[in-house]
Order: sequence, then structure tokens, then C-alpha cells
Amino acid sequence: MNSPIDIETADVSYLPDFMALVAEVGWPHKLEDISSLLLLGRPWRALNRESRETIGMAVWWPMGHAFGRVGLVIVSPKCQGCGVGRAMMHKVIEDTGTRTLMLLSTEEGKPLYEKLGFESVGLTQRHQGHYTHSSAIESEIHSAHPRDLSEIVALDANVTGFDRSSMITHMFNTGHTNLLRSHDQITGYAIARPFGLGSVLGPLIARNEDDAEALFTATSGLGMLRIDRLIEAENLGRFLEAKNLPGHEITHSMVRGSPPTARGNSRIFTMAGHAWG
Ligand SMILES: CC(C)(COP(=O)(O)OP(=O)(O)OC[C@H]1O[C@@H](n2cnc3c(N)ncnc32)[C@H](O)[C@@H]1OP(=O)(O)O)[C@@H](O)C(=O)NCCC(=O)NCCS
Repeated sequence: MNSPIDIETADVSYLPDFMALVAEVGWPHKLEDISSLLLLGRPWRALNRESRETIGMAVWWPMGHAFGRVGLVIVSPKCQGCGVGRAMMHKVIEDTGTRTLMLLSTEEGKPLYEKLGFESVGLTQRHQGHYTHSSAIESEIHSAHPRDLSEIVALDANVTGFDRSSMITHMFNTGHTNLLRSHDQITGYAIARPFGLGSVLGPLIARNEDDAEALFTATSGLGMLRIDRLIEAENLGRFLEAKNLPGHEITHSMVRGSPPTARGNSRIFTMAGHAWG
């Protein structure tokens, strides 16, 4: 690719161009998935200066004033290896100001992010399969009510160390959320929402593996299901394998800047997805 490129901000009106890029790299997102990701984030696009064709995309999401996450970084395969990804990421980093940036990287993206100062801080594994194991739901698990949302957001901010309230609110409104309480306080929650060809189960935050498994069982719908599990949640991994949800590729959690500080007794078991951590 020898033509000059431009990098500029974009918006949801570029949805068809972005869907074409998603299809080119074989990612599973549907139109609704990408549209919500664009609406809640700050999208950038790379274009061929002469033809105006969109050849790359990258999106970042503010998570409070101190943090942000980057995702949907795609360069059209016909333009890869020519500096487009690096040029887009420079614009994104500049746009995010002094924020610490976080992302989940594919093996393919890792060399680029490392060159830009991101460091690997953990691993996540995708589990996926056709889930058919509905079983008895433990009595202490409750379906969340809209009045629980502010407490869920507060728990999430404590556990992650950053504010992703607009993303949690979106997932809460488009999916199904279950809760675990102890002494009248929410100690864990899980959201299942439509994604790709089925649904995704995450975030799942809980105090321990038993609570995580109980929340998983109560919340996951039947059919094609995806879970992005933190690698250290080993028992949950074995539990998912036994439920016909085998582990697939491993991705790197990467951070550029000072990592967030987690607080409290609960922790993350599964991610909301690649974009929102
Ligand atoms: C990952 C991706 C965005 C990189 O974009 P790109 O335009 O091909 O990357 P660039 O040409 O700007 O390369 C940037 C740097 O990373 C290095 N790099 C990029 N891909 C690499 C690879 N697969 N292996 C080793 N190094 C690589 C390049 O050598 C370059 O370093 P240099 O400038 O010092 O020479 C692109 O390959 C892509 O869209 N892949 C499919 C989707 C994907 O996996 N996205 C990442 C999601 S986290």
C-alpha cells in the first residue's frame, strides 16, 4: 500500500464501513454489537487519502477521568504491515490525554501495543460452545431490579478500580442481570446479553469460585454462549469445560500507564468482553 493515509475521528455513520472491516478479519460482532460500541466510545478511522476508502478503525472508551480502554482495532488485511495500525494508535493515545489505557490484545496485536508502551498484566481465555446445561438455581441469587443498578455500578468501580458506569448501564438495559447479596450488600453480579451468534456472560464479579459458579448457572441462557474468563479463575475454567464450553484462544490484558487499584473482597471472574474489560 503506497497511497498516503489520513486518520480522523468517526462516528456511527461509518457503521457499514466498520462492519466491512469486522467481516474482513472474521470477528463475530453483529451490527447491534458494533453500533453500541461506537455510540458509547470515541471512534477513529484510517482512510486512503485519494479514494477516501476506510481501511482501518480503532475505538476508545473513557472510564472516568483517569482511565480508558481501547478496542476494535482493525486494519484491512490488504493494508496491514504498512504502519496504519501504529498511526491510528498514535492518534488514539493523543486523544486520551493523560489517561491510563487498558486493552485485551490478540496475539496479532501484541507486538504493536508493546512498541507503544503497553505491558502485559494478565491473561484471559475465551470459552465458547453450545450451552445446554440448565440446572437448579440457588435460592440466594436474585434477578436484579433497576433500583439495584447504582449499587452494582459502585461494586464494579470498587472491584475494577475504574468507572465504567455508562457501559454497565448499557449492558444492564440490554441483558439480564443476577445478584448475590450478603448482609444486605451486593457482593457479586453477572450479566448475560446478546452478542454475535448467541450471548456473552460477563462481567461476572463474585467473592469466590462457588459464588461465581452459582451466578454463572443462574444467569447463562441456553444456546451459543461466550465467556472471557480470567486465567487465574482456574476452577471456573474446569467448570466451564465440564459444561461443554471449551477454552479457546488466550488474550493479553495490557496496560499503558499506572494500573487501576482494586478494592474490596470481590473480584472479576469473567470480562464484559474485549472492549470493556
Ligand atoms: C493488529 C493490527 C491492527 C496491526 O495493524 P498494522 O497496520 O498491520 O500494524 P503496523 O503496520 O502499524 O505495525 C506496527 C508495528 O507493529 C509490528 N507488528 C504488527 N503486526 C505484527 C505481527 N503480526 N508480528 C510482529 N510485529 C508486528 C510492526 O512490525 C510495526 O513495528 P515497526 O513500526 O517498529 O516496524 C492488524 O494486524 C489487524 O487488524 N489484525 C487483525 C485484527 C486484530 O487482531 N486486531 C488487534 C485487536 S487487539
